Amino acid sequence: MRRVVLGLLFASAAACTPRTPPMATASDASRANVELAQLQEGRKLLLGKCAGCHKTPMPDEHSAAEWPKMIDEMADRSKLDLAQRSLIEKYLVAMSTK
Ligand code: HEC
Repeated sequence: MRRVVLGLLFASAAACTPRTPPMATASDASRANVELAQLQEGRKLLLGKCAGCHKTPMPDEHSAAEWPKMIDEMADRSKLDLAQRSLIEKYLVAMSTK
């Protein structure tokens, strides 16, 4: 009985944990051929600029090929300047595994 209760608690805690976008690593940066610092900055901007209206978008929600046009649509809404836009795009494109 105890086990069942613990299992349920664990399952509901997992369901409530907000998912955060993955941290970029040095190997992500070299795979995408960009600076690690750019991916880290892009992730920070994503958390700061893209999480106000809906939950933070996850890189895997779209393929690397789809992200640029999604960001086109969202850049106006988020009032991004070109540098911010480019960093967010680099992060999402590099981190999407689709
Ligand atoms: C001012 C509010 C606002 C901000 C800021 C915003 N979004 Fe959105 N976003 C929306 C709304 C509303 C929708 C859903 C309907 C739509 O597509 O118009 C949406 C939908 C999306 C979708 C899903 C579209 C689909 O068809 O699957 C993605 C992905 C997305 N946003 C990414 C982003 C990213 C990346 C950023 C930051 C650069 C961002 N959003 C910032 C309002 C916002």
